[in-house]
Amino acid sequence: MWIQNFGINDKGYGLLKFVLLFDIMLLYSFRVISGDMEYRHPVFSTDTPDNVTHYKGERATLQCSIRYLGTKEVIWKKQNEPHVLTVGKFVFVDDPSYAIDHVSHRQEWNLIIVKVKPRHAGVYECQVSTKEDLRRLIQLNVIDKPAPKKDGIAISGKEFVDKGDPIIITCNATGENRPPDDIDWFKDGTKLKPDAVRNIYIEKYSLVHTKTLHSTLEIENSDMSDSGNYVCRSSDLLITSKNIMVLNAETKPGKRGGFQSGTGSSADSSQTRPSSTAVPQLQISVDAYYCNLFLTFIIVYVISNLIH
Ligand SMILES: *[C@@H]1O[C@H](CO)[C@@H](O)[C@H](O)[C@H]1NC(C)=O
Ligand SMILES: *[C@@H]1O[C@H](CO)[C@@H](O)[C@H](O)[C@H]1NC(C)=O
Repeated sequence: MWIQNFGINDKGYGLLKFVLLFDIMLLYSFRVISGDMEYRHPVFSTDTPDNVTHYKGERATLQCSIRYLGTKEVIWKKQNEPHVLTVGKFVFVDDPSYAIDHVSHRQEWNLIIVKVKPRHAGVYECQVSTKEDLRRLIQLNVIDKPAPKKDGIAISGKEFVDKGDPIIITCNATGENRPPDDIDWFKDGTKLKPDAVRNIYIEKYSLVHTKTLHSTLEIENSDMSDSGNYVCRSSDLLITSKNIMVLNAETKPGKRGGFQSGTGSSADSSQTRPSSTAVPQLQISVDAYYCNLFLTFIIVYVISNLIH
């Protein structure tokens, strides 16, 4: 027997046979697991809203994101109505309001309702073909009046900033017929100008279709003296303000533990985890299996030599 050339006696050979049989069973079970992993059932993303509200005349988007769709189709229908609205990218209903927006990189099959009307309100079902039980319900509410006019001014930014961190304030000014021509920034009554030495930046851009002029004030490296009242005033003389306080913190709470950003990113990554790590994990277990096989061989070899 070739194996005896390695110095393994009959007892050791018996043991080796048993261990090899056990290992073959182990390898077989890995095969079964890996075979199982190749097929995945479609999964809905629950990150997209399931209850949306629109004013009459707005464009409504009902989002539906599905991973592992495979060759199946996404079907939209309205609950309690017998006919389907869409199958895949095709609209099957005689209503020009409906359209499908397929965002392939996000695996989204979104139902669009242009110029939504009160009769469109209701519960919609995003279904996977051939899987009656696989559906996600999205409620659409329609407010029976046009969206209120949004002319005005809005300011946003962090109220408390750690010393050395940037102060970033944005201001949006919307005109009645067109964007305002300009926005001015003031701090405690004094007009601010861009300043490369103090790292003060002021950016502006206007969007004609929303009639809005956007401006961002950024003070890159905040100092204690940057605390104060910041005013944003549009050339239409709309005005708003925000108080900002710079904190001289030895330890920055945001950077101490980072719970907030930690939980946020883990929620994001959990969505992609199964697909991205399933294969490497399997490879690691198969590697572990071969390692195990090699080690058992060595152990049997050593034991049989001891029995010798
Ligand atoms: C959906 O949103 C509307 C308006 O915000 C609310 O009245 C309704 O209760 C919500 N429905 C569900 C099921 O959460
Ligand atoms: C200003 O407009 C931008 C872009 O639409 C938006 O991201 C931001 O939240 C708006 N800021 C305020 C204060 O409304």
